[in-house]
Amino acid sequence: MSINSPQKPIGIFDSGIGGLSVLREIHKLMPTVSTIYIGDQAHVPYGSRAKSDVLRFSQGITEFLWEQGVGLIVIACNTASAAALLPLREQFPQIQFVGMEPAIKPAAKYTQSGVVGVLATPSTFKSDLFASVLIRFAQDSIILTNTCTGLVEEIEAGRANGPEARAILEAALHPMIDQGLDSVVLGCTHYPFAKELIQEITNGVVEIFDPAPAIARRVQSLITQNTDLRSSKRKDVDQHR
Ligand code: DGL
Repeated sequence: MSINSPQKPIGIFDSGIGGLSVLREIHKLMPTVSTIYIGDQAHVPYGSRAKSDVLRFSQGITEFLWEQGVGLIVIACNTASAAALLPLREQFPQIQFVGMEPAIKPAAKYTQSGVVGVLATPSTFKSDLFASVLIRFAQDSIILTNTCTGLVEEIEAGRANGPEARAILEAALHPMIDQGLDSVVLGCTHYPFAKELIQEITNGVVEIFDPAPAIARRVQSLITQNTDLRSSKRKDVDQHR
C-alpha cells in the first residue's frame, strides 16, 4: 500500500482546536475519509513559543501519528508549519506533509485598495516562511499585521464571539480600516471561528481569506492521485491473470 492511500487515516494537528477549521473543510470535500486529529492543548498557544519548542512538539505528534498508521499529515497550524514543515519532511521522508501558509497570494490579487490585513501569531510573523510569502506575493501591496494577543486563548475557551474577542479584534481591525483595508487574511487556523465577528466589525465590506478550503483541495488531490495509481496497478494485475 502506498503512503497516503485512502485506507490509511489522515493525521491532522494543531496547538489546539484551531485545526478543526481545516478538518471541517476536509470533511466537506471527503465526508467518508478517516482522520485522526491531535490538538496539543497541553502546550497551546504555540504562537508565543520558541521555534525550537514548536518543532519539538510537532516532532512528538508526528511520531505518534505515524505509530497510528497515517501516511499523510496536515499541519493545520500556521505557526507549526512555519517552524516545522521543512525539518519534518527531512526527518520523516516516509510521510507526506501538507502545511499552511497565510493566504497572501489571493488577497494581494483581490485587493483594490492595495491594503491587506493579516492576523496571525507572533511566531508566524517572525518566520522565514512569512518573509518569503511577502517577497513572492505582496511586493505591490501594503501589508498590515496584528497578532491579536489573547484571541487564541478566547477561542480555546469557547468564547470566539465573546466580549473579550470582540475587543481584541476591534483593536486590531479599526486602525486597519482607517488605512483603507479591503481584505483580511486569517493567518492562524483558530481565527476562522471568529469570522462572523470579523465580518461584523468590518461591516461585511472586506473580503476574508482563509486557506483551509485550498488545503482541503490539496489533500483531496493527493489522495485522488494515489487512488489512480492503485487502480492502474490493479489493472496490470488483472491483465496478467
Ligand atoms: N492555530 C495556530 C496557527 O495557525 C496556532 C495558534 C497558537 O497556538 O498560538 O498559527
